[in-house]
Amino acid sequence: MGDAFLWGTSTSGHQIEGDNRHSDWWAFERARGLTPSGRACDFRARFGDDLDIAKALGTNAFRFSLEWCRVEPRPGHRDDEAARWYDAVVDGCLARGLEPVMTLSHFTLPLWCRREGRVGWRDPAVVAAFVRHVRWVASRYGDRVRWFVTINEPNVLAAASHLAGVFPPGGLLRVGRARACHAGLVQAHVGAYRALHEVIGARWPGGRRLWVGPAQHVVRWRPSWADVGGVIQRAGARFNWAFTDATCGPDATPSGPTADFVGINYFMAQPAEPLSLARFMGWAPRRWGAEWSDLGWPIDPEGLTEALGEAWRRYRLPVMVTENGVADVSDRVRPAYLRAHLEALDRAQRAGVDVRGYCHWSLIDNLEWHEGFAPRFGLVQVDYATLRRTVRPSGRLYRRLIEDRSPMKTGSR
Ligand code: BGC
Repeated sequence: MGDAFLWGTSTSGHQIEGDNRHSDWWAFERARGLTPSGRACDFRARFGDDLDIAKALGTNAFRFSLEWCRVEPRPGHRDDEAARWYDAVVDGCLARGLEPVMTLSHFTLPLWCRREGRVGWRDPAVVAAFVRHVRWVASRYGDRVRWFVTINEPNVLAAASHLAGVFPPGGLLRVGRARACHAGLVQAHVGAYRALHEVIGARWPGGRRLWVGPAQHVVRWRPSWADVGGVIQRAGARFNWAFTDATCGPDATPSGPTADFVGINYFMAQPAEPLSLARFMGWAPRRWGAEWSDLGWPIDPEGLTEALGEAWRRYRLPVMVTENGVADVSDRVRPAYLRAHLEALDRAQRAGVDVRGYCHWSLIDNLEWHEGFAPRFGLVQVDYATLRRTVRPSGRLYRRLIEDRSPMKTGSR
């Protein structure tokens, strides 16, 4: 596959695979009485059919996560069957002309990273174990995978785990822990970036170009009279850019940036006011209506143009939309959402932003973490009783919108 613009869909392991029993989320669901992920979408058995659908939608890329806890269910113990299953997913992508975009950490940890005195990402021993794991990933899959997302949404992960109490370990307003978790994630990213380049560069010198970057959740914060002194705007900007400033900027480390691209997960803009923060944390009632998703997230396509532009101005690294989508069970909002956000992406490109790809969240409906299975983000509907997949009108629209934009070359048009 050459350097074509990547038109893809995004997924993550815990949300679709099913039976992720060695993960911290599996235990957290039980401890908190959340909807059990159970067999989820049974992607484990059905990945071939799902990749067929991804191809039929006209995409040329597929983003998925490799679940660390599957391939290393106990510290130092490798599960060969699980490793072979990920081989099959990677090969299945390649056989269908889909560039595999592999995420190395998408919100889950092996449960053992929280046992016997280990405290998740705040723990240097866990970070070191992750980097060892990434070295193994590089040697196993680096001959075929060249797009890696290191950490998915480190800002959301730190906040949801230690401030909002909705991700494991369920900490509430533990500011120090959130900071330590975020710092651990920066270290994990930097270690993973170096490990991938070292191992893949040494094993396959002169191989294809490697693309390693984080996927950062960016919210556009709209000015509000309630933001006295701009405090929320400033906090929002830190939420958006602290991680990428520490990893993607030219002065991020003494040896420069530790990213080849910046992944942007963009879903919404929010007014910079205390109520938005409370809503964002899930502590205030949601809004609903045509301009909001089923999760009460305000729809604001222009924010995508702005987010891509800001990432480009800050880091001068190619950017990729690693997630963008809407919870919409009726599929009445999604077609307009999709169209408007792709137009927003076009505008960013016309303004000179070097955008390399767009991955829609998500290919199929899936488990929305603590929210359970009710929010529907899929271009493809999943009937959870039968696990039958049905392409939504928005899925067919995506295909047409991709066709309209082809052939699309890398970088600005
Ligand atoms: C996450 C996904 C999630 C999606 C919708 C992102 O925050 O990376 O795991 O399902 O957005 O909330």
